[in-house]
Amino acid sequence: MMNVAVPNTPEEVLRRWMTSSDQLSVSADGSLMIEGISAAELIKRFGSPLYVMSEGTLRKNFRRIKAAFEANWPAAINVMYAIKANPNPSIRAILHEEGAGGDCFSLGEIQATFLGGADPNKIVVNGSYKPDEVIARAIDLGLTINLDSEEEVDSVEAVARRLGKTVRVGIRIKVLPEDYFKDFSSDCFKRPNFFQGMRRSKWGETAETAKRIIRRLTGHEHLKLFGYHTHIGRASRDPNMFGAIGAELAQIVLNLYQETNFAPSMIDLGGGWARERDPESSGDVRNPHPIEDYAAAVCAPMLRIFRDGQMPLPEIWLEPGRYLVGNAGVFLTTVGLIKRDTELGFTWVNVDSSTNNLLQIDLFGYTYVALSAEGMHRPLRQKVDLVGMTCVPSVFVRDCAMPELKVGEVIAVLDAGMYGEAKGYQFNSLPRPATALVSGKFSWLIRRRETVDDVFSTMVLPERFKQDEPRVS
Ligand SMILES: Cc1ncc(COP(=O)(O)O)c(C=O)c1O
Repeated sequence: MMNVAVPNTPEEVLRRWMTSSDQLSVSADGSLMIEGISAAELIKRFGSPLYVMSEGTLRKNFRRIKAAFEANWPAAINVMYAIKANPNPSIRAILHEEGAGGDCFSLGEIQATFLGGADPNKIVVNGSYKPDEVIARAIDLGLTINLDSEEEVDSVEAVARRLGKTVRVGIRIKVLPEDYFKDFSSDCFKRPNFFQGMRRSKWGETAETAKRIIRRLTGHEHLKLFGYHTHIGRASRDPNMFGAIGAELAQIVLNLYQETNFAPSMIDLGGGWARERDPESSGDVRNPHPIEDYAAAVCAPMLRIFRDGQMPLPEIWLEPGRYLVGNAGVFLTTVGLIKRDTELGFTWVNVDSSTNNLLQIDLFGYTYVALSAEGMHRPLRQKVDLVGMTCVPSVFVRDCAMPELKVGEVIAVLDAGMYGEAKGYQFNSLPRPATALVSGKFSWLIRRRETVDDVFSTMVLPERFKQDEPRVS
């Protein structure tokens, strides 16, 4: 086993966990730099707490995943940003400049996608139930709809007929290779029987149902069969899982080709691509597998099976969310109060935010890396629990190695770009933080901080409860 030296400073912690697309460094005076601006300066400009997105990291992540699949697949690759991971239109705009397609689930996600800019030919709409207004918007814009059920054919058909338009459709397939999954336990989702759980999940159709859908849609006036979709999610960082999924999906697709003559133009492999720094895993934060391993693992069996079966090669479409935005985001929060209990032997560093702002911690137990952003050169002297303000435990990081800290100093939590803003909520009526975008030495506000009034802006107090003054008794 490799002997990993125990880090002595936050800078060494950062070095240990740095990945190639991070735009993080440490200045001569020991400040954490995000691209060309220090974390403390960003807090001065935009206030605390603050999500910070690095444009450079976003662009690098996009180019890397695209190149990884292009190296393993001879037909075109469409990398579609799964906007659920972070719906900020500025992020969409940057990825659009890179040529990204998109995956949307709702009217809101379609709106965010097109606010930032999008090519309709590269956008899919997913979801187990898509209300008619979503279907209509997708058809109007010329997006591809991935059907999640046989029943959904009726709704899409009705809307397309009403609008007098055609729409490209994919079919979501339930891909669960039993040999791989029968004794499988996920390193991310804590489920007792993953295989049965996934069988029962609402997503996707079996090969038999797909065959019926294909027969029904062959030569259809309004629905143009275009391809297949599958998505397993961030279930494992084992490349063999992707290999098993690729093999099973390809076999299903080939069988359907042989039985129905339908040769798909695209296969959409969904998201869930594990990142190199991987707090999602209950194992080591360092994932030994770069994206190139996953691309190779999933593409090789598909290529072999399609070539052996003499099926024309489809394009590969992908829906990465976390992979693109995860490490592009850093969450900055400020120390508000340090509580020490010498009798119990614990120290709690209370910050001005909460795990509401990084909900994956509470939902899935992600083990994030936190750093003293103004003391990157200071020796690590203590183990603290980094805790938030809400009346749930709100433990960002337990037993976090920290240097001496002072009230008012900035703490940085890495990998905050995914599902932080998107799932953040206002428990304890805490307004949500602002978001800044950084590129080199430049920064922009891309989401304003909420006020307390914002928290209550959608609540309606009937006239009969209204008071001129706050009610005191
Ligand atoms: C259909 C679909 N595609 C893509 C994604 C994005 O997944 P990830 O962020 O793990 O890449 C999700 C996430 O839930 C999803 O449901």
